[in-house]
Amino acid sequence: MPERGPSEEALVLSAVVIVGAQFGDEGKGKVTNFLAAKADMVVRHQGGANAGHTVVVGERTFKLHLIPSGILYPGKLSVIANGVVVDPEDLVAEMDYLEAEGIRLDGLRISTQAHLVMPYHKRLDALQEGRRGESRIGTTLRGIGPAYTDKAGRIGIRVGQLLQPREFRALVHRQVAEKNRIFVDAGEEPDDPDTVADRYLALGERLRPYIVNTPALINDALDKEQNVLFEGAQGTLLDIDHGTYPYVTSSNPVAGGACIGAGVGPTRIDQVYGVLKAYTSRVGDGPFPTELSGDLAHEIRERGQEYGTTTGRPRRVGWLDGVALRQAARVNGMTGVAVTRLDVLDGLPTLQIATRYRLPDGSVTTDFPDDLETLAAAEPEYAVTPGWDAPTTDARRLEDLPAAARHYLDRIGEITGVPVVLVSVGAERARTIVTGTLF
Ligand code: IMP
Repeated sequence: MPERGPSEEALVLSAVVIVGAQFGDEGKGKVTNFLAAKADMVVRHQGGANAGHTVVVGERTFKLHLIPSGILYPGKLSVIANGVVVDPEDLVAEMDYLEAEGIRLDGLRISTQAHLVMPYHKRLDALQEGRRGESRIGTTLRGIGPAYTDKAGRIGIRVGQLLQPREFRALVHRQVAEKNRIFVDAGEEPDDPDTVADRYLALGERLRPYIVNTPALINDALDKEQNVLFEGAQGTLLDIDHGTYPYVTSSNPVAGGACIGAGVGPTRIDQVYGVLKAYTSRVGDGPFPTELSGDLAHEIRERGQEYGTTTGRPRRVGWLDGVALRQAARVNGMTGVAVTRLDVLDGLPTLQIATRYRLPDGSVTTDFPDDLETLAAAEPEYAVTPGWDAPTTDARRLEDLPAAARHYLDRIGEITGVPVVLVSVGAERARTIVTGTLF
């Protein structure tokens, strides 16, 4: 393995994980797209069509849910790896959308081992959310939780099984019979197993040319010293282990999830870039210590157009949370930070960053609480920093930014303990400041 050096030429081999450092929607799509230009392969390794990645290429905006943004560049492989849960209905719709936009799909690869989101998973998601009442999670209703439940319960059906029609139909019959009991109990209509099987087998034929052994493919690329980008979905605080359980998604968005969800060993990962928004947003329910309300929340939401890509729901917004970011830096082993949407804060007179939490027992901590009750009761203590007047959207180098904006970035570097390697000041690719070597 070549030594890692400061210059780009020295970085022959590089495997980079892009991870969300907050509650998702950090702008990972933009950062991944920026880096994808240099990657040979872009890999999605967890989550499913609950994700929404907005990618601007030239004049065009693409909204992707399942397919990695590498697909927008000819000659790169875009891999949906084993850790993803694939809804073939959504995937084929996304393939049709991209083809209609003139994007070729020859670089698409889908893991035989990825689990399928079945129609009954989406029905169950809705049923379970309805039953939770006040304590609902606010899921995207894409069937993600029930699909991962079946995977862990060893009754899931995998993408590769779409290619064996007889066995697939038998599996569907067994699973639909199980799930129908729940629906009938709830007073709902049962599913017809043959309708489900017929539909999925037809979709499977469309997917057939792209279904391969992805752990082999990805490891081959690493062996050949290609640049591989692992594109995380959701964010650290939505991680099923490290997030605000149970208000989380059902996969592991943290960097380690890339290893499991793609089939590569931890020793193969070279860099972990945490993407964080210059403020915080959360869509869905659950604790959010630095949440804002009133006019300021409204202003930030409108400026940042904080509405869900997948569900259109308005996002909750708040100040930057340094306690949560410290946690993200640690559990992901972040080596660099990409700060997005700095421009949304332009013109605010002062900004606040939570630096520690005061807990109900009167103690203060910089550790992110490990239980929901403590987190929900935590009172953030803020450092107040000056805002800046000048617009930042045209900055292309750190020196172009107002001093107060640079100071704000320095604070982020101090809190996370890792350097800021990229700053985004607008949706377009060009509106990016690169402050370090990225690959
Ligand atoms: P699920 O992943 O649909 O089960 O939803 C669980 C929680 O994760 C809910 O709070 C969702 O709003 C949130 N969530 C899931 N995917 C995303 C995403 O891509 N961005 C932001 N929040 C998400």
